[in-house]
Amino acid sequence: MSNYHIKNLEEYFQVYRKSVQNPENFWGEIAEENFLWRKTWDKVLEYDLSKPEVSWFKGAKLNITENCIDRHLFSRGEKTAIIFEPNDPSEKAQHITYNELHERVCKFANVLKNQGVKKGDRVCIYLPMIPELAVSVLACARIGAIHSVVFAGFSASALATRINDCDCKIVISSDGSFRGSKSIDLKGIVDEALKSCDGVSSVLVAKRTNTEVQMKEGCDVWLQPLLDEASSNCPAEMMDAEDPLFILYTSGSTGKPKGMVHTTAGYMVYSAYTFKNVFQYREADVYWCTADIGWITGHSYIVYGPLANGATTVMFEGVPSYPNHGRFWEIVEKHKITQFYTAPTAIRALAKEKIDFVEKHDLSSLKVLGTVGEPINEEAWHWYNDAIGHQKCPIVDTWWQTETGGIMISPIPYATPAIPTFATLPLPGIQPALMDENGKELEGNQVSGRLCIKFPWPAMARTIWGNHERYRETYFSTFENSYFTGDGALRNSTGFYRITGRVDDVIIVSGHNLGTAPIEDAINEHPAVAESAIVGFPHEVKGNALYGYVILKESGESRNQDNLRKEINQMISDRIGPIAKLDKIQFTSGLPKTRSGKIMRRILRKIASKDIKDLGDTSTLLNPEVVQEIIDNAL
Ligand code: WT7
Repeated sequence: MSNYHIKNLEEYFQVYRKSVQNPENFWGEIAEENFLWRKTWDKVLEYDLSKPEVSWFKGAKLNITENCIDRHLFSRGEKTAIIFEPNDPSEKAQHITYNELHERVCKFANVLKNQGVKKGDRVCIYLPMIPELAVSVLACARIGAIHSVVFAGFSASALATRINDCDCKIVISSDGSFRGSKSIDLKGIVDEALKSCDGVSSVLVAKRTNTEVQMKEGCDVWLQPLLDEASSNCPAEMMDAEDPLFILYTSGSTGKPKGMVHTTAGYMVYSAYTFKNVFQYREADVYWCTADIGWITGHSYIVYGPLANGATTVMFEGVPSYPNHGRFWEIVEKHKITQFYTAPTAIRALAKEKIDFVEKHDLSSLKVLGTVGEPINEEAWHWYNDAIGHQKCPIVDTWWQTETGGIMISPIPYATPAIPTFATLPLPGIQPALMDENGKELEGNQVSGRLCIKFPWPAMARTIWGNHERYRETYFSTFENSYFTGDGALRNSTGFYRITGRVDDVIIVSGHNLGTAPIEDAINEHPAVAESAIVGFPHEVKGNALYGYVILKESGESRNQDNLRKEINQMISDRIGPIAKLDKIQFTSGLPKTRSGKIMRRILRKIASKDIKDLGDTSTLLNPEVVQEIIDNAL
């Protein structure tokens, strides 16, 4: 892709200035010169953030798969689009060329059509990191179906909630999945979920583990025979710029997950543009993002962004610790990875292992290193820089969210100086602001406040599926005419941003965004539990871990506490997934509450972090005596 590669700091400032002085010209030019449109737009941007309503490239017609696949076939048909690296290192990696990807996506799209899937229908994808996952995502986009990928670590009940929330008719899954030394019965989880999903008419089942599964007549179908028969000719559906491309769920302040809706044209332009610049992607590079496609990172920076640039993108099925802690570095050497993008939690976990695991491997192919998902601490940053990058690879600390669709604040290699723990500067087109508690924008440098974005950008989520009011309320009601991120940040004396963490009831554990409310809801379903409150506390590897304060009903008080702890964690595993399990569970007779009945999490957070010197003002509490009890019994 031409014309949009920033190469040095001066150019960055120039481009940035242009992008905020005239956003329509800026994005209009990028869109026109670098993508394939069947019809161009009538208007680059229309918006009203009070409603909020935003449309980018209104009136344009396109299909994102023509941009990610078809248009590359002339010049890059035999280039590898996807490298699939299996869980088991002795299984051969697969190299899928753009020609092959085209054929596989078209066939899969025809299978979906034959199953009755039409433009606008929702398709749930619950698959491990195997090629079928990327292919099915693209197959949906090919025919204008809206994909809703659910991370295959979520439980049956979490899957069912997501299937029902957006009325998916079809589920795509597999017999099982491999994760390190484990094999997981994915189909069994789907079966369990579907007991409470009446709207699903069929389940397409890919074979991966070859384990025996139950196939329900009239509902479950093996995928491969359908693919074998399907035609490989599938013209792309023409989509409007603002047609939904996908739904992706993220947790929120109530028990119900939020189905963030991303639309076609703006998302495509932004994910491609940011991929190219943040990773300084060049034609011969081999790029690897270790995320799962079940998260936004995988959507934007394994599938859409890289493929829109005609890149080679790696899909890794396994885990960093299998068969040993050198696996990531073995893969870097094996595929001569040039850009490597991972989460701080993975870096911290691997930094704890023997350095031999790293030093055994030739990492000289690496050019750019990236992190995402949570703040990276100084120590982890230096280990990454020294041990992995040999101080030759710029590190991009990329701040963004499911809702933002693409990277928002991040260094650009060779342009922005990297400072450990700083996400540094906004990407072109992004206008961050820090607000004080009264909603006033903090001007100048050396300030910290709540991070907002005060102008629309192409990849912003447009709504929450089925609940636009919740979208408005969650993101656009705290600060007038601004998108509120939920994060706190500081701007240093040179205008660089450092993200300090969530200021709401979301806790980032191992880079996963967990709402306290859904976890508390799950715990409270336990028959012996009366009430609970969850907070985060610092953890060496996970960044944050979860600490639960639980009030038992009388019926529970005589029970063995360790057994109760196990049952509560099992409850969370069943309702949400193992990622949301609590590290510590403290039983208590009460929770500190304000007179209006709100739990004072600030106090609970301090106790959980063993920081009880200054608990702040507790006099406004309804029940100040409970604080001492909680301190005395803290774990
Ligand atoms: C939250 C969004 C989109 C990437 C995957 C997570 C935190 C993300 C950083 C970073 C500090 C970060 C924020 C954000 N976060 N990247 N580089 N530095 N914090 O997506 O699940 O929607 O979570 O992750 O708190 O709000 P997500």
